[in-house]
Amino acid sequence: MFSFPRYLAAKKSVDDRALNGHVWHKLWEELPASSRQRPLSILEIGAGTGSMIQRILDTHHLSHALYTAIDADPDNIAVLEGQLQGWAEARPHFIVMAQAIDLYDFLPRNQERYDLLIAHAVLDLLPLAETLPALLGLLQPNGLFYFTLNFDGVTAFQPPTPLGEAFDDEVERVYHRTMDERHTNGRRSGDSRTGRHLLPLLRQCGAEITAVGGSDWVVCPPYPHDEAYFLSHILHFFDQSLSHHPDLPADQFAQWLAARRAQLASGDLIYLAHQLDVLGKVAADNN
Ligand SMILES: C[S@@+](CC[C@H](N)C(=O)[O-])C[C@H]1O[C@@H](n2cnc3c(N)ncnc32)[C@H](O)[C@@H]1O
Repeated sequence: MFSFPRYLAAKKSVDDRALNGHVWHKLWEELPASSRQRPLSILEIGAGTGSMIQRILDTHHLSHALYTAIDADPDNIAVLEGQLQGWAEARPHFIVMAQAIDLYDFLPRNQERYDLLIAHAVLDLLPLAETLPALLGLLQPNGLFYFTLNFDGVTAFQPPTPLGEAFDDEVERVYHRTMDERHTNGRRSGDSRTGRHLLPLLRQCGAEITAVGGSDWVVCPPYPHDEAYFLSHILHFFDQSLSHHPDLPADQFAQWLAARRAQLASGDLIYLAHQLDVLGKVAADNN
């Protein structure tokens, strides 16, 4: 049985390796100091089950914060809420508030302006050009954004399947096309080259890019932690998106999927996905 919260938990060690160290360190250099009198206000959109919160708490860089975490999926928020008490006991001045709400319902209702906006593995699910100005409008003047794991158009599995590299490449191409054509709640959402498109869009919005770098997922055997499950879930996404897809012969795709699952079971499957991390700042006259 596939579980999205388990996928997110399994993804954490993959993300920990992938996150760009230069961009991550720059974030901590650029963030203003926090104190009891002036806790930093942080918003994370698409926060999932709270892995970024745990990652930030683990750094001990930030003592005082008011951290709002939103996600459209109530199951993810329920898992996140299960950790609130432990976090509050360990770090009483790092206050986390969670809400199950779609970003597009949150945006018109929200009155707050934040010091830091985080979107981790999320922006490639949204219609970026329409959404970015509203996201940047959530920030205080000079506020920071930390947009990480923005998918950027390259997926690769190795070794080749018996169907041949030309078919393997075609599966990856059609998969990217499904990202570009995806609709959520009647809205065109997602872009398989979000990473590279994000950079000029940010500049068009008047934002300054402070640091940028690659954050590729690379998963190789022997699979540490729960990363075999992570890979099985990635293959599940392919199954959901491409079984019955008109651009792929169904029987060949079924053989491809069976071959990839066999490679995973025998500990031979290698997976990589190219992604970008970006840190930046809005202007002093934002709003
Ligand atoms: C790939 S997951 C990443 C979750 C988390 N950031 C992590 O990396 O562990 C994307 C998350 O974005 C959420 N999401 C997607 N579209 C959203 C929207 N319109 N409003 C709020 N959350 C959204 C999904 O529910 C999901 O939890």
